[in-house]
Amino acid sequence: MLRLENVEAFIGENQVLRGVSLAVPAGGSVAVLGANGAGKSSIIRVIQGLLKVRSGRVLLEGREIQNLPPHQIARLGLGCVPEGRRVFKDMSVLDNLKMGAFLPQGRQVMHRTLEEITAMFPILGTRLHQRAGTLSGGEQQMLAMGRALMAKPKLLLVDELSLGLAPLVVQDIYRALRVVRQSVTLLLVEQSVEQALKNSEQAYILETGQVVRQGASAELLADPALKEAYLGM
Ligand SMILES: Nc1ncnc2c1ncn2[C@@H]1O[C@H](COP(=O)(O)OP(=O)(O)OP(=O)(O)O)[C@@H](O)[C@H]1O
Ligand SMILES: [Mg+2]
Repeated sequence: MLRLENVEAFIGENQVLRGVSLAVPAGGSVAVLGANGAGKSSIIRVIQGLLKVRSGRVLLEGREIQNLPPHQIARLGLGCVPEGRRVFKDMSVLDNLKMGAFLPQGRQVMHRTLEEITAMFPILGTRLHQRAGTLSGGEQQMLAMGRALMAKPKLLLVDELSLGLAPLVVQDIYRALRVVRQSVTLLLVEQSVEQALKNSEQAYILETGQVVRQGASAELLADPALKEAYLGM
C-alpha cells in the first residue's frame, strides 16, 4: 500500500531523514518507534506532502506521490491523526466530524459513516452537540480519530496516539484503535513502545533519522537486548 524508498529530507540545514525505507502492506499495521526528535513526525509529514523529499521515493499503491501537493495526496485516500490531536475546540463534536468528510465520496456516505464512527466511539455519539474543547484529552483523541475516518481513508497515519494521556486512557484509546485496525491500513508513530508493538504487525525503530532496527512487532517485543537498548523496559 505504502512504501518509502531511501527518503532523505531536511528542515532547513538539518537533515531529519537519512535514507529511510519502510513498507506498509495493504490491511496491515506498522509502527515507527523512536525517541524525541528521531524523525517520526517527519516521516508522517513527508507522506502527507507537508515536508519535501530531497531524494528517494514515496509510493502509494505503486504511484509516486513525493512531489504532489498535500491536498492531492489526501484525495488519494490518506487520513491523518496529527500529533497533538488538533481538534477544533470551539466547534461541536459533530461539526468536527463533518470537517473530516471533505472527500466527495466521504460526503455521499457521510451519514452512514457518522453512524459507524459513533458505534466505534460511543462516547462521541453522546457528545455530538458539545463543544470539542470540553472533551477530555482521551475523548479528543477519539474525536481526532473519528474525524480522520470520516473521509474513508485507505491508509490512516497516526502520530503519537498516547501523547499526554494517562495510562488508563491510553488503554482505552488503544482499545478503540484495535477496532479501527480492522477496517483500515495503519501507520502508527509512537514513543510509547509497548503499546505500539502490541498493536502492530511490523515495526521500525528510528534513531536520528535512520532506521536502526526492523522486524515483526512480536519479535521486537520479546527481544531482551532490544528492550534494554531502546525501550527502557
Ligand atoms: N520546525 C522545525 N524547525 C527546525 N527543526 C525542526 C522542526 N521540527 C522538527 N525539527 C527537528 O527535526 C528533527 C526530527 O523531528 P521530528 O518532529 O520528526 O521528531 P519526532 O520523532 O516526531 O519527535 P517527537 O517524539 O518529539 O515528536 C528533530 O531534530 C527536530 O529538532
Ligand atoms: Mg513527533
